[in-house]
Amino acid sequence: MRAADIAQDLERVLVTEEQIQERLAELAAEVDRDYADREVLLVGVLKGAVMVMADFTRALTIDAAMDWMAVSSYGASTKSSGVVQIRKDLDTPLEGKHVLVVEDIIDSGLTLNWLLEHFATRGAASIEVLAAFRKPDAAKVEIDAKYVGFDIPSDFVIGYGLDYAERYRGLRDVAVLAPHVYS
Ligand code: PRP
Repeated sequence: MRAADIAQDLERVLVTEEQIQERLAELAAEVDRDYADREVLLVGVLKGAVMVMADFTRALTIDAAMDWMAVSSYGASTKSSGVVQIRKDLDTPLEGKHVLVVEDIIDSGLTLNWLLEHFATRGAASIEVLAAFRKPDAAKVEIDAKYVGFDIPSDFVIGYGLDYAERYRGLRDVAVLAPHVYS
């Protein structure tokens, strides 16, 4: 759906579909170069990363294997604890692989912090991070993300995979949710 379809639920559009696609093409060109001489395994973190994975993979000129992981914190109230539960593990062993973790957003950084530490124990040859969006002001831990689409303010954003109570993931842009929706 487009922002105009749910205009009453939005405060403002933050990043348009066109801007997202343009930036993903730039990042894909970087990844094309960086992995020209080695195979890369793209690891998507469900569910938010579905959109960026679909668009980013198709923007690449190199072929890349794809795998998925589903994780969740132990309930919303303990999200800040950084404790993550694996709900669906990878199908691929990481031993010797060049892994590029693909995420929709780095918020506190706790999810990726845990994932990266966990992946490090699985013997990957290298691990890098691509995130479509990052909220620098919300960081509780610093994540060394090599490829970042956009730094955005710490507003309640939805769209392009980002949800509010499972809604709005299909919005093509990223937008700030109007407070009346969640208050
Ligand atoms: C979102 C997002 C990241 C994480 C980022 O996932 O996709 O995985 O939160 O937040 P953090 O940096 O504060 O850890 P969420 O748990 O909402 O699940 P979803 O992808 O299924 O929406």
